[in-house]
Amino acid sequence: MERWSINDSVRIYNINNWGADLFSVNKRGNLCVHPSPNSKYSIELRSLIDDLIKRKIKPPILLRFMNILEGRIASINRVFKNAIQENNYPARYQTFYPIKVNQQRQVVEAIANFGKKYNIGLEVGSKPELVAAISMSSGSTLPIICNGYKDTEYIETVLYANKIGYDITIVVEKLFELEKIIELSHKTGISPKLGIRVKLSSRGTGKWATSGGEDAKFGLRVSEIITAIEMLKKQNMIDCVKLLHSHIGSQVTKIDKIKTALIEGARIYVEMKKLGVNLEYIDIGGGLGVDYDGSKSSYFSSVNYSVDEYANDVIYQIKNICDEAGVECPNIISESGRAIVAHYSVLVTNILNTNTQNKMPDFEPILTETEKLSPTVRKLVDIHNSIDRHSLREDYHDTIQLIQEAVSLFNLGYLNLHDRAMAEWLYGRIIRKINVLVEKMRPIPEELQNFKLSMKQTYFANFSLFQSIPDSWAIDQLFPIVPIQRLDEKPDIISSIADITCDSDGEITSFVGESGRTKFLPIHKVRKDEDYYIGFMLIGAYQEILGDLHNLFGDTNAVHVTFNKRTNYRIDSVISGDSITQTLKYVQYDAGEIMKKVRDNLENGVASRKISIEESSHFIELLEKTLQTYTYFGE
Ligand SMILES: Cc1ncc(COP(=O)(O)O)c(C=O)c1O
Repeated sequence: MERWSINDSVRIYNINNWGADLFSVNKRGNLCVHPSPNSKYSIELRSLIDDLIKRKIKPPILLRFMNILEGRIASINRVFKNAIQENNYPARYQTFYPIKVNQQRQVVEAIANFGKKYNIGLEVGSKPELVAAISMSSGSTLPIICNGYKDTEYIETVLYANKIGYDITIVVEKLFELEKIIELSHKTGISPKLGIRVKLSSRGTGKWATSGGEDAKFGLRVSEIITAIEMLKKQNMIDCVKLLHSHIGSQVTKIDKIKTALIEGARIYVEMKKLGVNLEYIDIGGGLGVDYDGSKSSYFSSVNYSVDEYANDVIYQIKNICDEAGVECPNIISESGRAIVAHYSVLVTNILNTNTQNKMPDFEPILTETEKLSPTVRKLVDIHNSIDRHSLREDYHDTIQLIQEAVSLFNLGYLNLHDRAMAEWLYGRIIRKINVLVEKMRPIPEELQNFKLSMKQTYFANFSLFQSIPDSWAIDQLFPIVPIQRLDEKPDIISSIADITCDSDGEITSFVGESGRTKFLPIHKVRKDEDYYIGFMLIGAYQEILGDLHNLFGDTNAVHVTFNKRTNYRIDSVISGDSITQTLKYVQYDAGEIMKKVRDNLENGVASRKISIEESSHFIELLEKTLQTYTYFGE
């Protein structure tokens, strides 16, 4: 076996660059998760999965590491605290967790709990999210900011909640919303706490850049803000406005875009103050990005700044503008979602098989008896028998051309099935021979670098891309994928990862590699009878809620894990994934009715002697059991 160390694995999967010091490889070659950055304690993912399987929890399993969640909230608040101290900033910072990023009750509950000491709040964008947030809070302890489209019910709910002591700010996104708020406030006699969202002309970058700019979907143009101020002054409600909100998009990849937006936002704040609006807060929205590929670049799965730099810029730019204008500095709110939750969850699943595990016919004897073969296949045999490092390039190109020729000849009826199969078999053999030769070449000649891709295999993993990492499909976002075991061995296969949906789009062909995006994942040859698992990392933000039921693959099993010094870890809760009955129910099928129909059909079958009574009852048992099972691949 070629020499290989765990450091080589850390390097090729780029773990140190995207891992935020939360992931490492131990001496046993297993991937580990740390409860906090660089902690000497860690949980070995492979042992955890083996233990969960002993507890009859089946893969795919979504592991939620609650300590990481706590740590991310703490670290964002710490860097803002430092930035406030360094810049002598005279006001406070507060995080509002936007629950759209991951609304799972246990997740929001944990964030609300951990966040108590930082006076964390929740941001909501719809009526159902508002109700969820209200259910978490028992009054002013967990403040809420309301964005999104608001109808009468939404606004009235906020007003009455405010009346009984909740601290809820309604952010005005449209002028018609403001008219409704004024009307309902008069009707109920309840004064709202208001924010105004401004459409900055500054834009973010990457996939969500259109959330900013003058044609953004939400917010008031500067001219509309003037109208809003006049409307509120006329109604004696101007003192209700406490907050200025902006959001230039999620995953802003470039720090200079953030700075420009901060300057524009702060300028609007000081001008509004001068117009007599008693603002107390600037809410800079979300956008703090995550370095998914570890490239520290402005590529859209990365960011070219750190959280420290972000916090420093926020505090510095706002203070600078306020000081210049001689206006009191506001308290600062950020609605960071992705940066809080992305790291805390990992989906682990098993590899089912590969596209090369199929049994091949044995063409070996024919290699010496070629006279009956077609000339095209004979040429491939010659290459196979003679290839060496000197003829490599030419043979590689000839092989590609000959395999294409074989397919064309077959389609035209000049090649029989046997010869086409033989050509396919020879192609695989030649490519493998070339690979052995290429591996020994240093450096690999440029024209052969692409060759590696023709060695690419497809590994089928037990998951649905559409359910568990939909952004990989929808917007081509990169998520690190790492085998969780055998990282002390060289992964000598290169592969893509296909899911088990019947959709050819359900395949991942872009990966986080040593120096950015790669077209393949280095992976080990799965041994016979080995359970081999891979982990999809940094999937805590948006993926769970955006996931869909393609092919009726449902929610995966989810396990909440906390680190424990004595026992290494503790399973806090297990949330069972959807059963087949549940996913069928989402699309209006009723398990009881299904069973009734099948029973009727079976009775007819028994009556007409197509099936015995024993077979019929076996079928009923089987179907009853199947309806209760997990939607993913079982045994
Ligand atoms: C208004 C608002 N706030 C906060 C966020 C969260 O952004 P992020 O996850 O980038 O922090 C979003 C998401 O786009 C948003 O629309």
